[in-house]
Amino acid sequence: MTRGATVRCKMSKSKIIHTIIIIILTIFSYGFGMPQQELLYDTESLEQYSQSQPEPEPEPELDVFNCPTNCVCQYDAFKELPIARWVNHMIDSYDDELHTKLATCLLQDNNDTLGLLSSLPMDLQALILLHTGSSDSQVMVNTSSLKPLNQLTTLEIRGQGATLIIDEPLEFLQHANFEQIQVQASERLQRAINIQTKLSNDNYNYTLASDLNATKNYEPKSKLQFEEVILEEILSYEQHMQKLKLTRMPTFKGWTRLEVLRIQDCHLEEIHWQTFDGLQQLTHLSLERNNIVDLPPFAFAGALHLKSLSLAHNFIDGMHYLGLAGLLELENLNLADNLLEFLNEASFPPFPKLKKIDLRKNPVRNIYPATFWVMNNTRELQMGSNVAALELGTMNSYGQFDSLHKLRTLSLSNVTAGNLEQGVFKGLNSLETLMLRGSIKSIQFDTFAGMGQLRELDLSECGILELSMDALMGLQRLEILKLAHNNLTNIPPGLLDDQQQLEEVHLQGNQLKTLPKSFFYQPRLRVARLDLNPWQCSCDMSTWLQRLTNRIRGPSVETCVKDINGDPIACRHVPSFEVDKSLVPRCANYNGRSVYYVLRRQLHCDAMLILKTRSRMGKTRGLPHWRKLEMQQQGHAKPNRTTRRQHKPRKSQRNNLDFVLKQQQQHQMRRSKEESQSVELSNEI
Ligand SMILES: *[C@@H]1O[C@H](CO)[C@@H](O)[C@H](O)[C@H]1NC(C)=O
Ligand SMILES: *[C@@H]1O[C@H](CO)[C@@H](O)[C@H](O)[C@H]1NC(C)=O
Ligand SMILES: *[C@@H]1O[C@H](CO)[C@@H](O)[C@H](O)[C@H]1NC(C)=O
Ligand SMILES: *[C@@H]1O[C@H](CO)[C@@H](O)[C@H](O)[C@H]1NC(C)=O
Ligand SMILES: *[C@@H]1O[C@H](CO)[C@@H](O)[C@H](O)[C@H]1NC(C)=O
Ligand SMILES: *[C@@H]1O[C@H](CO)[C@@H](O)[C@H](O)[C@H]1NC(C)=O
Ligand SMILES: *[C@@H]1O[C@H](CO)[C@@H](O)[C@H](O)[C@H]1NC(C)=O
Repeated sequence: MTRGATVRCKMSKSKIIHTIIIIILTIFSYGFGMPQQELLYDTESLEQYSQSQPEPEPEPELDVFNCPTNCVCQYDAFKELPIARWVNHMIDSYDDELHTKLATCLLQDNNDTLGLLSSLPMDLQALILLHTGSSDSQVMVNTSSLKPLNQLTTLEIRGQGATLIIDEPLEFLQHANFEQIQVQASERLQRAINIQTKLSNDNYNYTLASDLNATKNYEPKSKLQFEEVILEEILSYEQHMQKLKLTRMPTFKGWTRLEVLRIQDCHLEEIHWQTFDGLQQLTHLSLERNNIVDLPPFAFAGALHLKSLSLAHNFIDGMHYLGLAGLLELENLNLADNLLEFLNEASFPPFPKLKKIDLRKNPVRNIYPATFWVMNNTRELQMGSNVAALELGTMNSYGQFDSLHKLRTLSLSNVTAGNLEQGVFKGLNSLETLMLRGSIKSIQFDTFAGMGQLRELDLSECGILELSMDALMGLQRLEILKLAHNNLTNIPPGLLDDQQQLEEVHLQGNQLKTLPKSFFYQPRLRVARLDLNPWQCSCDMSTWLQRLTNRIRGPSVETCVKDINGDPIACRHVPSFEVDKSLVPRCANYNGRSVYYVLRRQLHCDAMLILKTRSRMGKTRGLPHWRKLEMQQQGHAKPNRTTRRQHKPRKSQRNNLDFVLKQQQQHQMRRSKEESQSVELSNEI
């Protein structure tokens, strides 16, 4: 263990027991959570170690602090603490270089617990209490018994069979993590009587979009279905308090310095505004993996400075905007793996700063218009479940994602749409990545119109049968197009006319027999996956480029500009590409042989290569949709004799030195290409 200085006391007394405990603790704290991240960290620190000159790290003075027998005590940088696993992934830059005094202790039984806690050094800054769960060893910890440790900023309690009883606030704590334990309020605990914040039903004035004049014509299908639920139970305050006491619902009133609170997998069933009242410093709250069904109105009104909130892996079956009302600073909302079935304008309150919302694994079938109007700053939205398919479409000319003008990433799995049409993705003007999975019959023209910033379009595994020739109109910046594993039988000529930045096209796993001739004239194409298609090979395929089809993108590599001393000045990641011969496209009409082998050895298409010119490229580019259709009907694929003659060299040219040189060059290129290819061919037949 290189993690800080391990200090053992009372070594003479019970050395063996202690060693065993250390081993258990090590397994315990490494077994939880994310091993990859640990690994990442280790290699990073190793690198740092080997790179930086042996600058003697300021060794924290080993004031042999009194460490109880059941504990391991050490000094560690905060970001090296096991706790940082979950703090760090929420707080990106936790650059706390200060060494933290940490004790990790095993809870054994109730008789020992008090003694253990009272023998901890008073200036401890972080405490981890672990309990190896078994039903017959129940351990209780009262917050009052932690009160003397008033330097503590971080507390973590984990393990089945442990119960934390909140009988007094720990006003000094900044980070608290409770995992797989019971968290209960003591019966004696004083509870808040008045809402400390201004928010309440009476003065929360939020007008639904449909009430605004702008949307007079729009009738939401499901209007405020939650209204009754909210008014359902009217209890007197005393009755209400009585109920709260019975449920022993925890409350953190008075934990005024709390910034991060995580109550994960703790069987929490209900939450109420009182649970979080007065947590003005709280910025990160995670209530993942509990049994929460319902969010009562103003549930987080006591913690209005939340930046991230996770309610993932619960049983929430409906959202009403009052539930999350007032969280105007929220940036990250995670509602993944709940039971939401539809979303509408009454689902969310205004979230002016929201950047990311995760709605995956909810059986959402419908998104009604105006749902996302309240979060028009959002950059990332993810949805889709394997229980229900999300219907994509428009309603009264409203799209489902209108107003998400700043969205960069939209990821929707298990969608269903007959014909994906213009208007569905209206308003997504900043989108850079769009990923759809599910069942889509066809993509109509201008479906993605307005997405001038889109770089990656992934429509793999959607069962698409047909693409409009103008399906990709307007996507001028597209770099990656994935249409793999669909049911395409035909790529319309001109489909990629607008895409001069295209680097990668994935068409593997379709029913394609031919490609438009201009396909390989894309100026920046680096990868063209064409395998797993029943190609009908002919000399029309002479333009196909082996170096593009037999290639995949590898991990990106960092390249650096270095100064005289060899130190990097500026670095950037560039994609790397790897050759993979198993990706070679094969001819269905030639026994599944490699396309390139058939062209050269069986069809002898080589001789025609030299006649190919680039003049056909972009022949339909910029033409209106109707004109392209017209040309297609006229069979414009057949070259006219007159146009072809123009490319024959004229007599005067033949005497030209330039021309002769060019011809020689072409000849040479062809030869070297043949040579290099015939080496590869043997493997591909
Ligand atoms: C704990 O204390 C109770 C009495 O206070 C005693 O009966 C019990 O045996 C003790 N348990 C252990 C494991 O020492
Ligand atoms: C915790 O507090 C309760 C009262 O709420 C008390 O009955 C119990 O003995 C205390 N337990 C410990 C371990 O201090
Ligand atoms: C809410 O509306 C009422 C009446 O329209 C008004 O008196 C009150 O000041 C408003 N409250 C807020 C917080 O805007
Ligand atoms: C986002 O919504 C707010 C409030 O609804 C509005 O004031 C703002 O103009 C909108 N921003 C954009 C870019 O539409
Ligand atoms: C999509 O949802 C349907 C239910 O509507 C379900 O049967 C199907 O398995 C889901 N598909 C995927 C890929 O999860
Ligand atoms: C799409 O292709 C798959 C196999 O590639 C096939 O099982 C499925 O029936 C096809 N669907 C349609 C609608 O043709
Ligand atoms: C092809 O060329 C002939 C003359 O050789 C001309 O009459 C005809 O219109 C041309 N067709 C097209 C489609 O350009």
